[in-house]
Amino acid sequence: MNIWDKLAKPFLILAPMEGVTDIIFRQVVSKAGRPDLFFTEFTNVSSYASEKGRANALERLEIAPTDSPIIAQIWGKNPEHFSATCQALESLGFSGVDLNFGCPDKHVNKAGGGAAMIKTPELAVECFKNAKKSTNLPVSIKTRLGWSNVEEYKTWLSTLLNEHPAALTVHLRTKKEMSKVPAHFELIPEIIKLRDELSPETKLIINGDIKDKTHALELHKNYPEIDGFMIGRGVFANPYCFTNCEPTKEELMKLLYLHLDLFEKQSKKQHLSYEPLKHFFKIYVNNFPGAKELRTKLMRTHSVAEAREILTI
Ligand SMILES: Cc1cc2nc3c(=O)[nH]c(=O)nc-3n(C[C@H](O)[C@H](O)[C@H](O)COP(=O)(O)O)c2cc1C
Repeated sequence: MNIWDKLAKPFLILAPMEGVTDIIFRQVVSKAGRPDLFFTEFTNVSSYASEKGRANALERLEIAPTDSPIIAQIWGKNPEHFSATCQALESLGFSGVDLNFGCPDKHVNKAGGGAAMIKTPELAVECFKNAKKSTNLPVSIKTRLGWSNVEEYKTWLSTLLNEHPAALTVHLRTKKEMSKVPAHFELIPEIIKLRDELSPETKLIINGDIKDKTHALELHKNYPEIDGFMIGRGVFANPYCFTNCEPTKEELMKLLYLHLDLFEKQSKKQHLSYEPLKHFFKIYVNNFPGAKELRTKLMRTHSVAEAREILTI
């Protein structure tokens, strides 16, 4: 039985988010209330396959004991590099591999990866087949409805389902829509139908604008055929989004202290810049009297030591 068969329906997943869902933040989310499954940020297969890029790729693929079960997400466009990376992932402790065929970032798309795969379906299939051949881990796919037109989902999702991935996560928007329009929840019944017709064994995961566990359970009541729900930005509004809890100020501040501690610990192993860490402050210093003023002060800091000094005043 692979991880996808073990998860009870409906399961909840923290969405892969570059620059966010790293080894540090995943441990913070675990403290608040972990999802059933984590994904890593995406790692480029050509980085892993090159001597120069491998150390960096392996840093991104480091996992903590509280992360398991966790899926490694990878992207790229070179089928051989998908093979090389997949061969390594099993021994690194992952429960599965996910192929990113949906990222709309222009650098990623220019390199032929992420959502650009929607425009090269034959290559996407070749990369998937290579990944599947190269590992005993289950191989899943995360994608969007299409490149520019919502109707593309019919052919694009059919192409993917015909390959029988272990799971298919559909972010209910096109690449062109980025995250600027509401997710197309109205297409869920059609997508369920496609999955049931073409690959009933593939777990179907819905993603886009799902706020928290309560929201996911409501959706599941309407669409019991969906296997799992993936939450991304909902975790920014509430790091406890995988529980039914609204955190107190004290709980949020404890998470902030934990984030700072973990950042310092991780900094001993790899080079980490302080500036990106500051983006996380608004997750914890939010929704309580005086939060805005405290956040303004924290945003002016240049080190963890300075942040700690402000927090102890
Ligand atoms: C900062 C950020 C980074 C992201 N990085 C990734 C990524 O590495 N891989 C991926 O598949 N999707 C990535 N995404 C997309 C999310 O996984 C998710 O599909 C999207 O945010 C929609 O879900 P949401 O409405 O719940 O946030 C990213 C999104 C954000 C906001």
